[in-house]
Amino acid sequence: RYEQNAELLKRLSESSQFYQQQLTQHPDKKKATDYLSKDRGLSGQIAKVFGLGYAPPGWDNLFKKVGTRAESQEQLFLGGMLIEKKDQPGHYYDRFRDRIIFPIRDSRGRVIAFGGRAFGDEKPKYLNSPETPVFQKSQELYGLFEAKQNTPVLDQIIVVEGYMDVIVLAQHGITNAVATLGTSVNSQHIRKLFKLVSKVVLCFDGDKAGRAAAIRGLEASLPVMQDEKQVRFLFLPEGEDPDSLVRKEGKEAFNHRLEDASSLSHVLFDHARNQVTLGDEEGEAQFARNAMEMIRDIPKELTFRSVLIRQLSDQSGIDSETLSNTVFKARRQYT
Ligand code: CTP
Ligand code: MN
Ligand code: MN
Ligand code: MN
Ligand code: MN
Repeated sequence: RYEQNAELLKRLSESSQFYQQQLTQHPDKKKATDYLSKDRGLSGQIAKVFGLGYAPPGWDNLFKKVGTRAESQEQLFLGGMLIEKKDQPGHYYDRFRDRIIFPIRDSRGRVIAFGGRAFGDEKPKYLNSPETPVFQKSQELYGLFEAKQNTPVLDQIIVVEGYMDVIVLAQHGITNAVATLGTSVNSQHIRKLFKLVSKVVLCFDGDKAGRAAAIRGLEASLPVMQDEKQVRFLFLPEGEDPDSLVRKEGKEAFNHRLEDASSLSHVLFDHARNQVTLGDEEGEAQFARNAMEMIRDIPKELTFRSVLIRQLSDQSGIDSETLSNTVFKARRQYT
């Protein structure tokens, strides 16, 4: 896949270099450097580690610099960096304009896509590369390369929502965070992370969307669970994200929260309980069914699955065998 996209990757790498140069050389670079240092509290050093850049205003800055030949224009278009003019086929303009640029690297460090943040409240807040031959956003994790490079002993990985969360945590010495790219955590992500570490902590913003994302993360984790691996959940206070919280509380407090992150079983049983709509015995039965519905997604051979069924048995007073059988029959009616 990469060999046949060597030209494309070259152009993406040149694009990243261009944006980085603009951050240090453009006449109006102050707007960008002030945003990063004053508004977001980033050091120049951390900006370098993540290759942050500046796309100045204008329709053809990148085009003129990197798209000097027809072939390179084609590659930039293929890579999502240029957009074709509607009324002039074969003519292009820059996708990223007047934004802070976050290069997205694959796990080997090659630039495969970009995110661009608006300076103010312009919409969209983040503009991202479209899917391209080298970028499938549901498979990539922002910051994974940097986490591998900069973490002395990588034994756990924190999954957060945003680019800035990853970078600000790293600036505070928490270098093992990665972010999904505007999608929710999926089973592929978890599987990929389990190849690197035995513990994954899912940490989402303290808002409704963040809590919904945590439940999707729970559901995505179940089928790819393994014995000797763990997924934990860190719920942040209302209105906070990792960026705001680590800036407010500091590294030690954030690490303390990480240590206290909820276990998968805790989140699973809480969720099963929260979904109950009935009272009394009917509600208890609903709780048990809700929980089993999730537990049955865990691979059958895992000790972990037996442990959860045992826990559910303790909580509901229903013996383990009955639990498994009851749900099995109920499901068959619908399939
Ligand atoms: N996102 C996106 N497009 C948007 C909004 C968000 O792709 N219009 C993605 C980005 O990857 C972003 C993540 O979702 O980093 C989390 O969104 P949000 O919490 O709204 O943004 P923050 O990362 O907190 O951004 P900031 O702190 O810069 O406001
Ligand atoms: Mn949010
Ligand atoms: Mn956020
Ligand atoms: Mn934020
Ligand atoms: Mn609880």
